[in-house]
Amino acid sequence: MCGIVAYIGKQPAFPVILKGLKRLEYRGYDSSGIALFGDMVNTFKKKGRVAELEAWDEEIISTATVGIGHTRWATHGEPSDANAHPHSSNSGRLTLVHNGIIENYASLKQELVQKGYTFKSETDTEVLVNFIEDIQINNNSSLEEAMRIALKRVVGAYVIIVMEEGFPNRLIAARKGSPLVIGVGEGEHFLASDASPIIEYTKKVIYVNDYELAIITPDEIILKNLGNETITPYIQQLDMELAQIEKGGFDHFMLKEIFDQPGSLTDCLRGRLDMENLTLTLAGVEEHMSVFSQAKRIIIVACGTSWHAGLVAEYMIETLCRIPVEVEYASEFRYRNPVVGEGDVLIAISQSGETADTLVAIEKAKEAGAFIFGVVNAVGSSIARLSHSGAYTHAGPEIGVASTKAFTAQLTVLAMMAIKIGREKKTVTESEYNRYLAELALIPEKVKAVLETHESIKEVAKHYADARDFLFLGRGYNFPVALEGALKLKEISYIHAEGYPAAEMKHGPIALVDENLPVLFIATKDAYYEKIVSNIQEIKARKGMVIAVISEGDTLIRGMADHVMVVPEVDELLAPLVSVIPTQILSYYIGVLRGLDVDKPRNLAKSVTVE
Ligand code: F6R
Repeated sequence: MCGIVAYIGKQPAFPVILKGLKRLEYRGYDSSGIALFGDMVNTFKKKGRVAELEAWDEEIISTATVGIGHTRWATHGEPSDANAHPHSSNSGRLTLVHNGIIENYASLKQELVQKGYTFKSETDTEVLVNFIEDIQINNNSSLEEAMRIALKRVVGAYVIIVMEEGFPNRLIAARKGSPLVIGVGEGEHFLASDASPIIEYTKKVIYVNDYELAIITPDEIILKNLGNETITPYIQQLDMELAQIEKGGFDHFMLKEIFDQPGSLTDCLRGRLDMENLTLTLAGVEEHMSVFSQAKRIIIVACGTSWHAGLVAEYMIETLCRIPVEVEYASEFRYRNPVVGEGDVLIAISQSGETADTLVAIEKAKEAGAFIFGVVNAVGSSIARLSHSGAYTHAGPEIGVASTKAFTAQLTVLAMMAIKIGREKKTVTESEYNRYLAELALIPEKVKAVLETHESIKEVAKHYADARDFLFLGRGYNFPVALEGALKLKEISYIHAEGYPAAEMKHGPIALVDENLPVLFIATKDAYYEKIVSNIQEIKARKGMVIAVISEGDTLIRGMADHVMVVPEVDELLAPLVSVIPTQILSYYIGVLRGLDVDKPRNLAKSVTVE
């Protein structure tokens, strides 16, 4: 999340940084800013896309040859001019850009407030720049030393690049967790979150490692560790073309986002799941726990993929919390004069946080007295603001129109909610609670294991790229995965696809089955396994083609199906988090094989802001 670019050298810095930020907009695009060294540090920052920065003063931008820039995907504080980076310290001596999250920012801020520091923004970044300044003042130390001390106390992930008044020919950068690449030029250096802003100037790069500090002038790069020992920089040759790295080396944003999932799920769990103390922290739920534990019922409203996440949540919440759940299409709910009021909790699920139907559904329920909880990816979005409380999914910007990593992050947040509320209501025992936490912690690794099988899924795709129709079947927790698989396939490949609960097949859809119809079963090991096996036999008896998502070690279905896609075994509550991955990969490859623009399928938009 967030992109950073910096330049120090001999050419005007502004155009280099501006162009670089545009390349990094996929990392976030709710606000942006640049600071340049002239006679003093000048900063220009705006809410909105990077292009807004083109309106900056001509004189400032034409002369400066040193600067830092940032394009933001909000985490702390909504998108606004004030929350945009760069941020300066109270004295104005330090200015920095930051990519990452400072998890202990609240306690650091409290310390600084007591010392008289004031803040113009709601960001963790403004806390960090003042924290560094405070150390510098108290210890009468250099910026470099103050950064070393500060970063030892900071919890979280960061890349920062800092400018200091009085040192116009030097930038200092540091990283832990978030990426930083330095481009090595002749009398000039480039810094960025990935190589895309650098590649047109130089192919010589240094990847900065965690806990390293880089002191950079136009002619020199000094790398040090936090113990102040100098490290010899390892200069690598970029073996990539510009077009590739804009998508992080992937052919499409959709594929990149599918592969992002081990990381995005880790981000979603970060600061919430603590396996050392066996705790699950979800502030938005905790602060309103009595509302949840006393809820007469929970209504979930959403659209599309987010609605499918809602269906999984229905299974999770009813099983773990014993609260009745209704899952509604937001577009239907808003128009049908629903019976809703006090004592009801309405959970709105949305990646963009701007979906028009979901917004209106919330407004209606809120007016009627329901408590609104938002499960949203885009920080500061309308749905997040309209909710009484909520939990962000922290999946990072999703640019491919087909939702992939947002879906799995939604499932993760919803699972955490169900586990937490169930424990409070004592409908989840302590041993179940501990088991679920342990399972959750393993999910990113299990998703990674599925991604590693992508080549074999590509082979499966080759057999079905010319299909005209597809049927997706699943039961229990995997029934919504069947719906999601069908949606993904139809939007990416334009193949007609339908999802059904497997047992419903006999009530109509089985009439479609012949030797030309691929039927994809989500058939992982769970309580319905035997029943699914019977359903597969029924399809085979009618000469249908069977593709199955199966659990590792399942030889029975492997022997029956035409093709299988294998996933690690997972508790059935969390099974959708891994069983959906092969369907995402399959849809992607089928779309690509059909020569389609998988990132921007026809007629669709990423954010549906009209009803
Ligand atoms: C499908 C897809 C859509 C969205 C739907 C809701 O891949 O992306 O079905 O899930 O438009 O959007 P959000 O979650 O932004 O409210």
